[in-house]
Amino acid sequence: MDSVVRVNGGKALSGRIHVRGAKNFVPKAMVAALLSDKPSELRNVPQISDVDIVSGLLRLHGVEVAYDVDRGILTIDPTLVTSAQVEAVGEHAGSSRIPILFCGPLLHRLGQAHIPDLGGCEIGGRPIDFHLRILEEFGACIEKQEGGGIHISAPKGLEGTTIRLPYPSVGATEQTLLAAVQARGKTELRGAAIEPEILDLINVLQKMGAIISVDIDRTIRIEGVDHLDGYVHRALPDRIEAASWASAALATRGDIFVEGAVQPDMTTFLNVFRKVGGAFEVHHDGIRFYHPGGQLHSIALETNVHPGFMTDWQQPLVVALTQAQGISIVHETVYENRFGFTKALNQMGAQIQLYRECLGGLECRFGQRNFFHSAVILGPTPLRGADIAIPDLRGGFSHLIAALAASGTSHVSGIGMISRGYENFIGKLRALGADIDLIDRSE
Ligand code: EPU
Repeated sequence: MDSVVRVNGGKALSGRIHVRGAKNFVPKAMVAALLSDKPSELRNVPQISDVDIVSGLLRLHGVEVAYDVDRGILTIDPTLVTSAQVEAVGEHAGSSRIPILFCGPLLHRLGQAHIPDLGGCEIGGRPIDFHLRILEEFGACIEKQEGGGIHISAPKGLEGTTIRLPYPSVGATEQTLLAAVQARGKTELRGAAIEPEILDLINVLQKMGAIISVDIDRTIRIEGVDHLDGYVHRALPDRIEAASWASAALATRGDIFVEGAVQPDMTTFLNVFRKVGGAFEVHHDGIRFYHPGGQLHSIALETNVHPGFMTDWQQPLVVALTQAQGISIVHETVYENRFGFTKALNQMGAQIQLYRECLGGLECRFGQRNFFHSAVILGPTPLRGADIAIPDLRGGFSHLIAALAASGTSHVSGIGMISRGYENFIGKLRALGADIDLIDRSE
């Protein structure tokens, strides 16, 4: 986490890089493998630290995990799954948000689980109230532990139920799926999230033998089955990483071919990218994103759940918007606190003001609650190098883009956090012609 990179900015990023499986899908598919007593094989797996964290947690439960990095193939053998030591699980506290998704599979396999306190990016409160309520609805008993974490048990197994989510939460939808597939009877989930990563998790579960249908009104219906098999599956590509490179091309007036990116899951992003003045070409093996010359245009944008504009696309795009002509407005409606990264951009010369008000037409949960969740960006503003510390994963990548677009030298600290979601990002940046050095690495 303490690693620092020195960036000599002001050069257009240009060239070809490759994006593998989605960070927000792969760890969940790894957890799903636990539902079976047969091995599974996941392909297109990127080397990111979230994969290491989940591999570690699986191993603590007696699961054999092997990763062929070059081929991107992960094999997971949960035949001998067993309860993990509470202290060992506790060492994973604060590492990620994935451990809460172990609840359903471990309850099905072992009748109980210990789940450490969660981590993940500090972009809002990120409570787990939906998760806990869902698990209770299925009949699980949850006890908060004094030493941290929760103990969860279901001696009589889980019972299918009807759940209505107050907000289409990605994690809560996944929690329901992983609990319902082997619960007794039927489960109906209303108000579900339908992100492509969730639909790919449903693909995995269906390959394993689950019975799941998705209606157009955000209702997911699951019929519980007694037994699930292992799976072989190729993870969908990471559309957040692809969009991050697209924004990097725009902010640095560059030209980046993102091999592995696919159009269907990026439709909303591509529309916005084009409106800002970016150009793209969709090829059979990826998407070329480039700055076609001339001025970029300001826009008004609101983040939303799928099929809206992803919150995770927002932070890198804001860097490009600092280079657009006029006033852009971004209303963040998914997280209450995802603009912390703009402070460093202002330090570098950007003019971004944050507002508590909803600057947009969407009904938003944060409007009357004192959160700076709307941003007004005045551009174009030349950026200059600075010493900055990254606040979170996407904000961190955005800081790197800003440093690359800026004139002069920047030192960006805390870049270890970026490896949670961007595979080999320093190697890729170098391949794109970035002048970037790792000047300190602490273990
Ligand atoms: N929420 C609650 N209670 C809950 C769960 C969620 O109030 O029990 C709220 C959250 O606080 C947030 C909103 O619901 O305001 C949406 O959260 P969601 O549950 O959808 O998010 P998540 O599952 O925790 C995943 C991704 C995030 C991504 C969001 C939204 C993973 C590991 N994380 O988080 O990815 O932003 O969905 O698409 O899949 C990232 O990649 O940088 C990242 C933060």
